[in-house]
Formats: sequence, structure tokens, C-alpha cells
Amino acid sequence: MSHHKIEVKNLHFTYPDDHEAVKNMSFVIHHGESVGIIGANGAGKSTLLMLLMGVLFPDRGEVLVGDVHVTKKTLPLIRQRLGIVFQNPDDQLFMTTVYDDVAFGPRNYKLDEKEVAERVKQALDMVGIYHLKDRAPYKLSGGEKRAAAIASVLSMQPDVLIMDEPTAALDPKSRRRVIQLLNGFKHTKIITSHDLDMTYETCQRIIVIQNGEIAADGPREEILTNEELLDRCGLEMPLSLQNCPVCGHKKSVIRLAGTN
Ligand SMILES: Nc1ncnc2c1ncn2[C@@H]1O[C@H](COP(=O)(O)OP(=O)(O)OP(=O)(O)O)[C@@H](O)[C@H]1O
Ligand SMILES: [Mg+2]
Repeated sequence: MSHHKIEVKNLHFTYPDDHEAVKNMSFVIHHGESVGIIGANGAGKSTLLMLLMGVLFPDRGEVLVGDVHVTKKTLPLIRQRLGIVFQNPDDQLFMTTVYDDVAFGPRNYKLDEKEVAERVKQALDMVGIYHLKDRAPYKLSGGEKRAAAIASVLSMQPDVLIMDEPTAALDPKSRRRVIQLLNGFKHTKIITSHDLDMTYETCQRIIVIQNGEIAADGPREEILTNEELLDRCGLEMPLSLQNCPVCGHKKSVIRLAGTN
């Protein structure tokens, strides 16, 4: 399944105000990998995701999805393979009802309305908000909006799922539902988050970004237990891996790693 491979080669991106947000990033993500992208506020995570999706284009370097270069010309093909849930749900939802937002992608593929309805129901059930299908997206709560934004991407059945801060603003049950959903998604997934416990539960590989550069790239057990690295990059070990604050009991990384 090499056509779902994502390759980033010597990527550079500078915003129009001369802020250099991505500096010489290179990595390859293979089909089926689950990759967490972590870093402090302003590290460059969202910018990187937008470069992967062709929302932004690099000054130098390139992004390849399979053998296809991400360019303005190849965008329709790229968007069929990669589905992104943006950090801000308001960037994703623009129709008058939740149903129409989730149906937008399938309708764009010219599926018949019966199949569209099936896809919408399946996607809304997956995030647990089928009952909100007739509501106006702009009237939903922050967490409900996020669930609707996730459903609008799931309905397109992408090969690669990219999520920018998927658990931000979610209550514990909704957060757990997103974690289960991510663990049930067997294709490639790329997730940025400050919720490092969620990242630990859903991603096998972690890329750490600091000031627009890759500071580390490796297995979660290595990266998320490296206190010195995390501290240097403005992060903290996931709570589930920290010692008990009361008795100092050391948590077992191996046992937690086995919970996935
Ligand atoms: N439209 C823009 N114009 C200029 N600079 C921008 C723009 N968007 C982002 N930046 C800057 O680029 C850098 C990277 O921003 P980005 O949004 O990618 O960070 P992030 O890692 O996603 O942060 P967060 O954790 O807060 O979401 C930041 O310094 C930010 O201020
Ligand atoms: Mg961001």
C-alpha cells in the first residue's frame, strides 16, 4: 500500500510576515502508521499539517503522497486520500445543518442520496451526535462542533486521517469516544495534540517539533518518557506515565503500552 506513504523532504515555509514556521523538515510516514506530532504553542504543528494537505505550499522542499507531489494541480486527488480535521471546527463547518456539512464530501463525489444518507448516519454515529443532525453547526457547543467536524471528514472515508488537536474542548466521555475512534481507524493517522495521554494511547510513533524544526522522531515509549527532551521542548510527560504524586509509585510503561 505504498500509495498511502507520505514523504516530506527538506520542507521550508515562511508566512508573508517573514515568520519562518517550518525549517528543513524531513520524514516518511508509511501506510498504517499512527504518528503523533507534538510541540509547544507556536512550534509549527498546524502549519506542517496544512503543508501536508496543500492548504499551504512550501517555499522550498516537497510533500509527496504516494508518488504524487502535493501541488495546486494534484489537490483533488490529495483531498480524496487525506482527510483533515482542523484545529478550529469553525474552519470546517459552513453549511446550514450538521447533516449537510457531513454530507458535503460524499455529495461532492457524486454519490446517490441513499448512499450519502448511509455515510452521514455512520459518521455521526461514530462520534455520537446523530441526534444533532438537523441543528445549525454555528449554534452547537465547542465539543459538539468538534464532533461534527470529525464526522464531516469520516464521511469521506479517507485513507489517511489527519487531526489537529482532536480532543481539545471535549468532555471526558467524548474524549474517550475520539480515542476509541482513532484506535479503531486502521489506516494511517497523523494527530497533533497537547493531550499527551491521548497521544500515548493512540500513536505508536511521535515526532517532536520545536521552533519549526524536528527535535526528535521515535517510538512513543522512548519519546514520551524522555523528561529532558520534553522539558526542553516545553512539554511534560503524560500524566499516565508520571509517578504517583502521593506515594511516588512508578507507573509501568510496558503495562500502559499494552492497553492499546
Ligand atoms: N497566518 C499566519 N501569519 C503569520 N504567522 C503565523 C500565521 N499562522 C501561524 N503563524 C506563526 O507560525 C508559528 C507556527 O504556528 P502554528 O499554528 O503552526 O503552531 P502550532 O504548533 O500549531 O501551535 P498551537 O499548539 O498553539 O496550535 C507561530 O509562531 C505562529 O505565530
Ligand atoms: Mg496548532
